[in-house]
Amino acid sequence: MTETAAPPRANSKKLFIRTYGCQMNVYDSDRMTDALLPHGYEPTTEIGEADLVLLNTCHIREKASEKVFSELGRLKELQAERRSQGHDVMIGVAGCVAQAEGEEIARRAPVVDLVFGPQAYHKLPQMLEQAQGRRHLPDALKRAVVDTDFPEEDKFTKLPAARKDVTIARGLTAFLTVQEGCDKFCSFCVVPYTRGAETSRPLEQVLAEARNLVAAGVKELTLLGQNVNAYHGLDGNGRSVGLGELAYRLAEIEGLERLRYTTSHPRDMDDALIAAHRDLPLLMPYLHLPVQSGSDRILKAMNRRHTADEYLRLIERIKDARPDMALSGDFIVGFPGETDQDFEDTLAVIREVGYASAYSFKYSPRPGTPGASLTEQVPEEVKNERLQRLQALVVQQTQAFNASMVGRTLPVLIERVGRQAGQVGGRSPYLQAVHLEGSPDLIGAIHQVEIIGTSTNSLVGRLPVAQAA
Ligand code: 5AD
Ligand code: SF4
Repeated sequence: MTETAAPPRANSKKLFIRTYGCQMNVYDSDRMTDALLPHGYEPTTEIGEADLVLLNTCHIREKASEKVFSELGRLKELQAERRSQGHDVMIGVAGCVAQAEGEEIARRAPVVDLVFGPQAYHKLPQMLEQAQGRRHLPDALKRAVVDTDFPEEDKFTKLPAARKDVTIARGLTAFLTVQEGCDKFCSFCVVPYTRGAETSRPLEQVLAEARNLVAAGVKELTLLGQNVNAYHGLDGNGRSVGLGELAYRLAEIEGLERLRYTTSHPRDMDDALIAAHRDLPLLMPYLHLPVQSGSDRILKAMNRRHTADEYLRLIERIKDARPDMALSGDFIVGFPGETDQDFEDTLAVIREVGYASAYSFKYSPRPGTPGASLTEQVPEEVKNERLQRLQALVVQQTQAFNASMVGRTLPVLIERVGRQAGQVGGRSPYLQAVHLEGSPDLIGAIHQVEIIGTSTNSLVGRLPVAQAA
């Protein structure tokens, strides 16, 4: 969970956004902020002083809706307290729970003024105005403004570009959504239902946003999409361009030093994208490529449409193109029908790949997905035990990967002052956090850093002697 941060201005209305879930929601929260800045809202990190509170919600795993309703209960108290002090607070629910539950949220939580899905963010100022118009109505007549449509129009052409000072305040790395939605229909996943069909932003639109970000000082871009490597934006001639070609075009932007993308599906790792990894030094050697399971039987039931062996051969091809490629993955344990042997097959794939990091989850049936109606659900204790074993293996691999960096010199994008005085921090090409002693003057550029140790989730570095002196 993340919270929007930027310096508030005097006399403005204050906006507080609480963001749950994936990086696409982080990006969306920034774009909602951008949409509201011209209407007199400034972000705050203090929920207690907010005039507008937005929950940007995630629906991917269990209990998502319940969490939102309990948060709304707390917000009701906050609103009552603020009202007793003569202030009002408007409350909105955005994101995938809003998309999935829509009117149900308005019905169950009358405290909510706005409910809107990810395709309606550009309409936020009008929706707010509409909601404000309903505020004088007696509670019994008041209804939230609800918008969960998938409109024809392109919200990105309607959303204002980020203000330069705001982009600068957001830092040296930025997210850029290039693709939304998913047509893969993995049988466990709600995304195709909440985020809708796959759509890609036109090439020029993406390039223009990237140039804007880089002009404001951004050095590293992470391209986002639920299925980012299925990107197929149109160029000015109406020709479809894949993610590989997009990477080559972005590499031409002067001042852009690093490029990443997430999340990818193995079936969409095409030759052009693999070639981009071979050719473009700015494309970082760290790839999030979920496989979910190592058992062909379970992969089939998950509708992943590839085998474990195809995944392993794909990684070989990627490593042929970029030998230092580090991998990260997502795993689900306890998919319906998963046997001990299926689970062992997953561990075998993990051992063979050797991940730099991985995210693992117990399967949770999501309403409306085919997986939810499968009868052979795996008992909770079995899921717990498998998750523990899988995570223990991944932790070992992450530690070994981090330890293998000790003694090497890595280019580190120094992004911020460290937690301790006299320290600065940044990221390695492999997305590892790196801390080192150094002056804040180092912030804003890539420096060669000698890795001298590891701590739980990060690397400890130092500047090479000549530079440190
Ligand atoms: N149960 C458990 N994990 C899930 N994920 C998606 N849907 C489910 C579910 N129903 C995991 C997948 C996906 C990641 C974002 O969340 O591993 O890659
Ligand atoms: Fe969900 Fe599968 Fe699409 Fe990923 S590829 S968003 S897991 S349906």
